[in-house]
Amino acid sequence: MANQPIGIFDSGIGGLTVFRSIAEQLPGYDYIYLGDNSRAPYGDRSFNTIHQYTWECVQWLFKQGCPLIILACNTASAKALRTIQQKDMRGLDPAKRVLGVIRPTAEVIGDYSKTGEIGVLGTNGTVQSQSYLLEIQKFFPDLKVYQQACPLWVPLVESGEYEKPGSDYLVKGYLDELMAKSANIDTILLACTHYPLLMDKMKAHLPSTINVIAQGDIVAKSLADYLHRHFELEQKLSKTGTRKFYTTDDTADFDRHASRFFSAPVTSELVSVSSLTC
Ligand code: DGL
Repeated sequence: MANQPIGIFDSGIGGLTVFRSIAEQLPGYDYIYLGDNSRAPYGDRSFNTIHQYTWECVQWLFKQGCPLIILACNTASAKALRTIQQKDMRGLDPAKRVLGVIRPTAEVIGDYSKTGEIGVLGTNGTVQSQSYLLEIQKFFPDLKVYQQACPLWVPLVESGEYEKPGSDYLVKGYLDELMAKSANIDTILLACTHYPLLMDKMKAHLPSTINVIAQGDIVAKSLADYLHRHFELEQKLSKTGTRKFYTTDDTADFDRHASRFFSAPVTSELVSVSSLTC
């Protein structure tokens, strides 16, 4: 059987929090993870740059044989997915699929709230795109959604500095800004792959009545459902339980940090940025 893994893409290492949930819920499939670490973070980059970088990585994953690619990155899902689906993939094999993380999350997030008011935390790119507001509106038109960009959280997590006590100040700062927007917020969505690493610190600063929701399990459940509904695509996928990891930056660095995100040892291989488009 041909090697046809599921591709998982993120701007860096954070997408491993989503991959971990996917691998737990759907262990039998083969997977290739690509982190574009050398060009991360994407969060403050322009639309054109995020689209160009994401499309280069998607094309590379197609070349590795992936018929299905998940953009685990919220910023890439917000800024690049629509153009990739509607323009870039025109003329390619129509059986190939690229999916994001925003729609599956938007489909269910309203079910977590009793007050009908939620907060969404993300990068500048994700917040400014308004993608969550637009998608959630389709499924929960009465839900009030308050957004807060947390641009310092990705560098805090990538560097490992988040484990130090000094990081509490930065965690509390953005949470206070969000909670000042409404006293009725009872659910906070972590709309960035890195933020689950800050879960304990966030909970320490929030009343226990507030739900903090990481999206990995939501995305994994939605993927399982998608594969159930798309039998022809599901049949094509190879199923030997292989996991391969690639990074566009230092592999030793990737492997050292990866276990915090993936909860298992990771051995990655290098893909140079220049080879992504060859
Ligand atoms: N992975 C990105 C996300 O989920 C955050 C990291 C970045 O800014 O590149 O939005």
